[in-house]
Amino acid sequence: MVLTDHSLDSDRIPEHVACVMDGNGRWAQIRGLKRTDGHTAGEEALLDVVEGAVDLGVDWLTVYAFSTENWRRPIDEVQFLMRFNESILVRRRDELNEMGVRIRFIGRQDWRVPKRLKRQMDEAVNLTANNTTLTLTIAFNYGSRAELVDACRKLVASGVKESDITEERIAAELYDPEMPDVDLWVRTSGEYRISNYLIWQSAYAELVFLDTYWPDMRRDHLFAAVKEYQLRNRRFGGLSS
Ligand code: FPP
Repeated sequence: MVLTDHSLDSDRIPEHVACVMDGNGRWAQIRGLKRTDGHTAGEEALLDVVEGAVDLGVDWLTVYAFSTENWRRPIDEVQFLMRFNESILVRRRDELNEMGVRIRFIGRQDWRVPKRLKRQMDEAVNLTANNTTLTLTIAFNYGSRAELVDACRKLVASGVKESDITEERIAAELYDPEMPDVDLWVRTSGEYRISNYLIWQSAYAELVFLDTYWPDMRRDHLFAAVKEYQLRNRRFGGLSS
């Protein structure tokens, strides 16, 4: 592990960090720009945070790129986000691959996701499948309630007996059963909401809310969030040791 910020405790780096990349639209609006310019500016933030996570030795980083509710946005913005996500994957996958990043997706398979984008998602996943430095999971057309509905449907379809339904069985039917629970859950932009993001996986996550709009987010903000995380006393419902 390469720990660049020496004020952090290298023994207490969160294994799984989840980010809600919020505030792109407001970042653009206060600059008199189009909302979509805010998304464009968010790309650099994302790459810097990925590099910061790698430096810290975080194993899993999950980012919210498009929610099941984002379809309600104006059609122009939805179309922009579809093309933008595709373009990031095409332009950045080799760089991410060289960094040892394994790309995965969670979200609902949906006819509304363009086939071209789906193809690029599959290519990025296949290209990076054997990487081990960091798993970057992109939550796309994702919502926790939809994930739980889909998990329940799979359980019922498998003919599981009522008495065999356990937390482990449900967790095994989530979009990525290998994904560990979230340790540190971060939202930018000064909003204090969960927004249907990784609700099952974040049952005992430490929540950190940053005032920074996502396009201004850099690895130092991630380090500050980890610092805050390290000050917390995690008890998982028990008592302090
Ligand atoms: C929320 O800001 C942000 C989004 C809906 C999209 C963020 C997407 C990216 C930065 C690209 C990620 C791409 C990949 C491939 C990982 P908002 O529009 O809700 O901002 P607002 O709350 O200020 O309106």
